[in-house]
Amino acid sequence: MTVAINPAFERIGEENAFAVLARAAELQRQGRDIINLGIGQPDFKTPPHIVEAAVRALRDGEHGYTDATGIAPLREAVAEDLHRRLKVEVSPDDVLIVPGGKVTMFMAIMMFGEKGADIVYPDPGFPIYRSMIEFTGARPVPMPMREENGFAFSAEEGLSLITPQTRLIILNSPANPTGGVTPKEEIDTFVAGLARWPKAAILSDEIYGQLTYDGLAHQTLLAYPQIRDRLILLDGWSKTYAMTGWRLGYSVWPKAWRDVARKLAVNSYSCVNSAAQFAGIAALKGPQDSVSAMRAEFDRRRKAVTEGLNRLPGVRAATPKGAFYAFPNISGAGWKAKPLASALLQEAGVATIGGPDFGVHGEGYLRLSYANSLENIERALERIEDFLGRPARAASGL
Ligand SMILES: Cc1ncc(COP(=O)(O)O)c(C=O)c1O
Repeated sequence: MTVAINPAFERIGEENAFAVLARAAELQRQGRDIINLGIGQPDFKTPPHIVEAAVRALRDGEHGYTDATGIAPLREAVAEDLHRRLKVEVSPDDVLIVPGGKVTMFMAIMMFGEKGADIVYPDPGFPIYRSMIEFTGARPVPMPMREENGFAFSAEEGLSLITPQTRLIILNSPANPTGGVTPKEEIDTFVAGLARWPKAAILSDEIYGQLTYDGLAHQTLLAYPQIRDRLILLDGWSKTYAMTGWRLGYSVWPKAWRDVARKLAVNSYSCVNSAAQFAGIAALKGPQDSVSAMRAEFDRRRKAVTEGLNRLPGVRAATPKGAFYAFPNISGAGWKAKPLASALLQEAGVATIGGPDFGVHGEGYLRLSYANSLENIERALERIEDFLGRPARAASGL
């Protein structure tokens, strides 16, 4: 006898990056030398003053439940940080502290996703968007992110996908998996066009907002007062402060929905680990030089990885303008993306992710995370070059 579970779970997906991480770890256990350009997490240590703040909090007895929305000094620090960096006004009352950036997308998609609703999301994009949309029974409407646009979203194309059924539009710039950054003019046009669709909510995933290069300023959707009453901001500490395992993120909610979000928190995780919240305050209020140092190092690697990829036969890589991913077009290399990613891991010892793991528009691309040392990036590129140069293998990937 099998006990039936909610059939919605037949539609839930996952993130292949974690499967690749597990496979890479397995190969390493077997003694293989694997270079991991698969997982999207900074390879740096969390800056010591942040770690110290958490240790101190635990020693001081800060280990009980906190308010479900997060401790007040942390919510205030988030509001101050948004003002300092982006010159936007946010009330600490509208800030919700959540266990990782992902939780905000879970909440937002649960709030608006239901049968009969459409949700527009970037493709290629973070795989959990589509997975959660399908889970809720809503219809996923992919918004293509195109190489010819530098993987920025096109306002015109995005607006053309919105219908009276559209309940939520998900935007992500700087973007995973492409490193694309959408220019201000494009966002201006998109927001202006949203005036025609007052019933559509917007989720802006800005988790890579502090990782832009070439002097580009981050463009936050919070800067548009005309959509603030239907905009949810997703951000967090994971990528900026090398804190992926701390599980600490935040959202900014319109007043109308913030209490629903709080109730979702109360119904699931109650509150975020209290010591992690104290670490979050130290991160935002302490020195920011580690953020600039990490960004500068990512920038060096970004240049190296783009140059190296463009030297490979049949490979063409746009220069990413943000995040820490390169998304080369490998369609000229004689391989489909997923078989190439598998073969690179198995035979060349380099973990990457096939573009289709980020959506149908990802075919023909690979994602390489350059959150790894320059030395490992160079070694990985040599291995990929060597692998692609083996003629018999190339043919087998078609
Ligand atoms: C675009 C995007 N949003 C959200 C997240 C989730 O971040 P967190 O690890 O804080 O849950 C990620 C993580 O890879 C991401 O790439």
